[in-house]
Amino acid sequence: MSREKTKELLNQSVADLSKASALVHQVHWYMRGPGFMKLHPKMDELMDQLNGALDELSERLITIGGSPVSTLKEFDELSKIELEPADWNKSIAERIEEVVTAYKYLADLFEQGIEASDEEGDAVTSDIFTSAKGGLEKTIWMLESEIGRAPGL
Ligand SMILES: [Fe+2]
Repeated sequence: MSREKTKELLNQSVADLSKASALVHQVHWYMRGPGFMKLHPKMDELMDQLNGALDELSERLITIGGSPVSTLKEFDELSKIELEPADWNKSIAERIEEVVTAYKYLADLFEQGIEASDEEGDAVTSDIFTSAKGGLEKTIWMLESEIGRAPGL
């Protein structure tokens, strides 16, 4: 079985998780204001989660015969997550909202990954996408709560 759509979505995820990690790093560095002392280290936790998912999805792609993108240029060209040079003019809530937007995009992408891998008969990849999506959704709930909103999932 060729699993072309599954491979394509795994590679899209590799690019997007890499860029999401850079976005969270930017938020980690550029936040200023009340909440810094707990949210600054929280961003380290989020990067660890993203990097864990990145490694797992990349290695699954290799396992099923694919080739993950692996350069910064490829990540940037393929990823649909937006990342602009930072300045100091955003509130912490605005920065958290950027992370939520990226996480919601990733959760949708992983849903597509679940559907494609199910269609192509790859239950293992579907399971990996499913647990990665569950982790993202839990984080979305927590981040939305931090800025006073319902998860909106
Ligand atoms: Fe740091």
